[in-house]
Amino acid sequence: MNDVQAIEVRGLRKSYGEQEAVRGIDFSVRVGEVFGLLGPNGAGKTTTVEILEGYRDRSEGDVSVLGHDPQRRARDLRERVGIVLQSTGIYRHVTVREVVTHFAGMYPHPRDVDEVIELTGLSGREDARTRTLSGGQLRRLDFALALVGDPELIFLDEPTTGFDPAARRGAWETIRSLKALGKTVVLTTHYLDEAQALADRVAIIKDGRILVEGAPTELGAGTGASYYRVAWRNGDGLLKQQETDDPTTLLAELTTAALERGEKLESLSVTRPTLEDVYLQLTADV
Ligand SMILES: Nc1ncnc2c1ncn2[C@@H]1O[C@H](COP(=O)(O)OP(=O)(O)O)[C@@H](O)[C@H]1O
Ligand SMILES: [Mg+2]
Repeated sequence: MNDVQAIEVRGLRKSYGEQEAVRGIDFSVRVGEVFGLLGPNGAGKTTTVEILEGYRDRSEGDVSVLGHDPQRRARDLRERVGIVLQSTGIYRHVTVREVVTHFAGMYPHPRDVDEVIELTGLSGREDARTRTLSGGQLRRLDFALALVGDPELIFLDEPTTGFDPAARRGAWETIRSLKALGKTVVLTTHYLDEAQALADRVAIIKDGRILVEGAPTELGAGTGASYYRVAWRNGDGLLKQQETDDPTTLLAELTTAALERGEKLESLSVTRPTLEDVYLQLTADV
């Protein structure tokens, strides 16, 4: 991964009439990174990605996508970006291969159609009419259409919502192969496990604001959740736990005291809050 920014967002705001859906957010996405926008329904995820895609105009702020302002809708940008929208498309009466081939024709350097069909797990369904596909297969077709132009940057808005578990795993594999190809991916999701499994970095968004941002494993820091939890069983077998930002000192104190009493600390562990702990804490309605 390098340090070149694929996306930079500063002070982004979007109002729909009276309602402010995005209330001043900042983030950047590095080239080659999978970046997750994680948040509950209505948080402002789709609004944000549609602004980055050039589908919606912003109310305020600065946005750069592959060096372009998406609001200008430059052809160069359109050719370098692949998009999977939250709701699926309208191609109904054609076959899988026909629609993928049609989309390939709109790009200057498309990927091989059969390779894209293979990559998205649609092999064997090439000649099926799209209206006969299952929901999961239609979503794969959305992926295929987003990929066939061989984009550098791919937006996936809730790519697995409504999938059964096997279809979700399939989509995760496709997203991992995009990363392996060096693509930059921006993914929105309200599934924690999806963000944790796929994203290099995550921003948790709620009510149009980013609450916290970082690698999924690092997100406990600076959220009010103590960063480390030390747990052990004391002499009478009771489970004890204590939260701390300084586990070195706490462990030294606990173990010294135990040794002085001639005891061992059973089941001693040091853990960090999971992304789930952080997410539930941050998005809880109080
Ligand atoms: N076209 C629109 N007109 C008016 N309000 C909208 C429109 N699109 C979204 N909103 C509102 O903006 C807020 C954020 O929506 P959205 O970006 O779709 O969130 P998410 O994708 O995180 O579920 C919601 O309260 C939604 O009702
Ligand atoms: Mg949405």
